[in-house]
Amino acid sequence: MEQWKSGRSSGCESGCKVAMRKALERIEPYSPGKPIEEVQRELGIREVIKLASNENPLGPSPKAIEAALSALRRVSFYPDSRGHDLKDAIARRYGLSPENVCLGNGADEIIRMLAEAFLEEGDIVLSVEPTFTQYKFAADLMGQSYMSVPLIDMQFDIDGLKDAITSRTKLIFISNPNNPTGSILRGDQLATLISFIPETALLVLDEAYADYVTDKDFQSGSRYVGPASAAPNVVVVRTFSKLYGLAGLRVGYCLGHSRIIAALERVRSPFNVNLVAQAAAIAALDDHEHVERTIALNESGKSFLYREFERLGLDYVPTEANFILVRLGARAREVCQHLLRVGVIIRSAHIFGLNEYARITIGTAGENKRLVSALEDVLPAVYGGNRREWQSLKNAL
Ligand SMILES: Cc1ncc(COP(=O)(O)O)c(C=O)c1O
Repeated sequence: MEQWKSGRSSGCESGCKVAMRKALERIEPYSPGKPIEEVQRELGIREVIKLASNENPLGPSPKAIEAALSALRRVSFYPDSRGHDLKDAIARRYGLSPENVCLGNGADEIIRMLAEAFLEEGDIVLSVEPTFTQYKFAADLMGQSYMSVPLIDMQFDIDGLKDAITSRTKLIFISNPNNPTGSILRGDQLATLISFIPETALLVLDEAYADYVTDKDFQSGSRYVGPASAAPNVVVVRTFSKLYGLAGLRVGYCLGHSRIIAALERVRSPFNVNLVAQAAAIAALDDHEHVERTIALNESGKSFLYREFERLGLDYVPTEANFILVRLGARAREVCQHLLRVGVIIRSAHIFGLNEYARITIGTAGENKRLVSALEDVLPAVYGGNRREWQSLKNAL
């Protein structure tokens, strides 16, 4: 009671005997990319750049900011629980009906809702490895099994996936492009995959990064959604966090058969997408100029970073997204720590089981240059010797 009054924890609390659900013992709380403010606070550095969470380096769409500011005046009201206008705008974009759209507090919430709505005792969630960690979380949350098929040379193994599917497989999550590799399923691979998904399983295509893809062989799963589609068990997940620069507002959505959407609506919390976020997302959808600038910046940043990584002797995985998986060697985590100390936040890929790699978001031209120059200092510092010696280390890694 004393503690309660003072509002402080002693750090050695005792007495609480309430057990959490057993299934949660398997779950570690999500470990996000470090926010800029945290690094500034902890290290006392003012100039910090974050290339760790695949956010939009240009920031939000100016039209979205305007709409958000104007919506702020209405926040004494609850948001539209059904998200009528936003669903309408999304449905129109894909030539679908609003009944084919469900809104989420980010794509993350859609993934959780899919698990809550569809996983029963004995079901299996299937995905690939390495991939976005929230798919395993979805299975763990519901106390169900998770299986993953390893990528081959960082590419999807369609035959492996086919072999892994059983009558117990309920949700198949494919991040397309895949986080953290940036690799894609080609259109023919997607069609093949769809052809062997059982009627009782859902194929969830997480297209968080699809807008960045330039490969002509890519196909969005959205063509398989809708009344005319022959694949009623395909769900496409999208987000406003990347291309539209609204990660902090938390808006995502999925497209699917109206029966799937109706099931998701049963588990959706009533006001999951706030009023400001709905207004901003509607405006962002129409800001074609911001979208084009973002894609152009990503393309030029990608070419620059490819060139510079090659000059530095670093292997990387060619990407179709707004991040690049780079091989930093046996001491990759140390390299990430050193970069952090000089104000450059990147994502060590050990969380994906890739201990020698880091995932780096493509930034503005200035951010990319700063990253490269920091790498030029940090790599020799970590591996010893000067840069030339570092370069000669490449083959030994
Ligand atoms: C593949 C993938 N899906 C979903 C998400 C989550 O997006 P959101 O910010 O909309 O929750 C991310 C975020 O990094 C992602 O990489």
